[in-house]
Amino acid sequence: MGVLLPIILAFLAAGIGGLYLLGVFRQRRPGEPPLDKGVIPWLGHVLEFRRDTLKFLERMQQKHGDIFTVQLGGFYITFLQDPLSFGAFVKESREKLDFNKFAQHLVQRVFRYVAIENDHSILQMSSNKHLKGDGLEVMTQAMMSNLQNLMLHDIDLDTDKRSWIEDGLFMFSYNIVFRAGYLSLFGNVSRNTVGSDEKAKEKDRAESEALFYEFRKYDQLFPNLAYGILSPRERKEAEKLLKSFWETLSVSKMKTKDNISRWVWDMQQAREEVGMKESMMNRYMFLLLWASQGNTGPSSFWLLLFLMKHREAMKAVKEEVDKVLKESGQQLQRGGPLVNLTREMLMKTPILDSAIEETLRLTAAPLLTRAVVQNMTFKMANGREYFIRKGDRMALFPYSAVHIDPEIHPDPQLFKYDRFLNPDGSKKTAFYKAGNKVKYYTMPWGAGVSMCPGRFFATNELKQFAFLMLVYFEFELKNPEEKIPEIDFKRWGFGSMQPQRDVQFRYRLRY
Ligand code: HEM
Ligand SMILES: *[C@@H]1O[C@H](CO)[C@@H](O)[C@H](O)[C@H]1NC(C)=O
Ligand SMILES: *[C@@H]1O[C@H](CO)[C@@H](O)[C@H](O)[C@H]1NC(C)=O
Ligand SMILES: *[C@@H]1O[C@H](CO)[C@@H](O)[C@H](O)[C@H]1NC(C)=O
Ligand SMILES: *[C@@H]1O[C@H](CO)[C@@H](O)[C@H](O)[C@H]1NC(C)=O
Repeated sequence: MGVLLPIILAFLAAGIGGLYLLGVFRQRRPGEPPLDKGVIPWLGHVLEFRRDTLKFLERMQQKHGDIFTVQLGGFYITFLQDPLSFGAFVKESREKLDFNKFAQHLVQRVFRYVAIENDHSILQMSSNKHLKGDGLEVMTQAMMSNLQNLMLHDIDLDTDKRSWIEDGLFMFSYNIVFRAGYLSLFGNVSRNTVGSDEKAKEKDRAESEALFYEFRKYDQLFPNLAYGILSPRERKEAEKLLKSFWETLSVSKMKTKDNISRWVWDMQQAREEVGMKESMMNRYMFLLLWASQGNTGPSSFWLLLFLMKHREAMKAVKEEVDKVLKESGQQLQRGGPLVNLTREMLMKTPILDSAIEETLRLTAAPLLTRAVVQNMTFKMANGREYFIRKGDRMALFPYSAVHIDPEIHPDPQLFKYDRFLNPDGSKKTAFYKAGNKVKYYTMPWGAGVSMCPGRFFATNELKQFAFLMLVYFEFELKNPEEKIPEIDFKRWGFGSMQPQRDVQFRYRLRY
């Protein structure tokens, strides 16, 4: 889950530095954006912000327009709500708007990981090499075999019985995608240590299942952990969970595994080379697990749910998937081989691509934050200029500024699977606001230096999961009238949103 998303976490726990107390006396100076300190000294608007970030920002925008500064837990944050001016934020030099230093503090607080000098460039390099382009070929193969191992192991592929299996869609999707992603990135049990392939697979299933349940506990504590408001009992639990993750994901354990991804391996090697202590490397492993597995599962839930709720979308995507399978010369038969879903096949699915982009538009809501390192002037697209103070923060919340702007995306609350398709079936990239083309028309991955380095792999994971679900199973909501659950609004800003409750569905083999 966007490791670095929760800007506020640093704030609250940072303690009330004497200087910030001076914030009480802060006044808006000429040339600065509107300032809204809220009524509570120091805390400012943090309680309302935390309760429902989206609602709060909408209220502020109504009151102040598309740029304003608010006080949150001793910090002054300028929110920019004009998508046409996003480029100026994203491309501003590091000497003015900095991501790294501030992110490293955060990671140290939440994950106890102390970053090294070139941490971020190592991550960028390894991700460019192994999570996109040709590197993705290897990852696609690994993910495919792990997904099928998990999706099909309980199902008898040879008998006549095609009975329905019932489950909660959120837990089902998150579970499978988390475990398959984890095994593909962090490696699987070596056949040599347990005797046979079958035993290795079984051990992988059991261990990844246990890890998933621990992960979910941490996941549920996370928003309050990030805001620094856990109860003592919860804080103890979080502490215990962290220790167990460091143990489970430890470098020494990893080295006994097979098929560790190059993505993880290279980053681990780079740290070993500079002599990082093993205990510190183990902490980094959990950071990687958190960043890589917290978002894709929830997103895959929303994708399947939207397809089930929208008949025409389901039909279009299913037809596309069946066509791609057929054109690859494969056909599913009882007792026959499993699907060999290649990267090439996954590049021929424009309708599925659009459905995924639409899913992320509606359910991915990161908060992008930068520290203001020196006094600066921020220039908006319409020419207005604002003075921004050193020591403040600047932030974007694209969900409210872009994703649900009715001018950019008409009927923004509706799921339209073909919203990102041109009439000729190609990918649509032209979106407008007030007659101007909007470059950042969705931002599920963030942008600029902090943009998600796993986005190509993540999209691929979503496509693979949906593709395999569609070719192997028919699936439907247990209650066809089921309403789409509300988003859990305590998680705004934390990446992929989660629903307030699960939804029951059923599935059975299709062939
Ligand atoms: C639907 C799935 C995903 C979504 C919506 C998502 C979104 C994001 C966002 C918004 C950020 C930026 C956070 C910020 O600006 O502070 C981020 C960071 C990150 N993501 Fe993802 N992500 C997803 C899946 C993945 C996957 C599968 C991986 C790895 C295999 C991954 C690895 C990372 C890492 C390592 C970072 C930290 C980047 C840094 O320090 O600059 N993500 N992600
Ligand atoms: C381990 O993962 C690789 C892909 O990374 C896969 O080819 C292999 O079959 C898996 N082994 C077992 C025993 O599941
Ligand atoms: C997984 O690791 C085993 C043992 O090192 C190796 O024989 C096999 O080729 C690997 N599989 C893949 C898909 O890389
Ligand atoms: C799947 O197809 C690819 C490309 O055609 C091939 O290289 C690979 O060996 C196949 N894998 C399996 C498991 O059949
Ligand atoms: C930055 O601006 C503030 C407020 O205008 C001013 O008090 C301060 O001296 C400036 N700092 C620098 C380094 O220019």
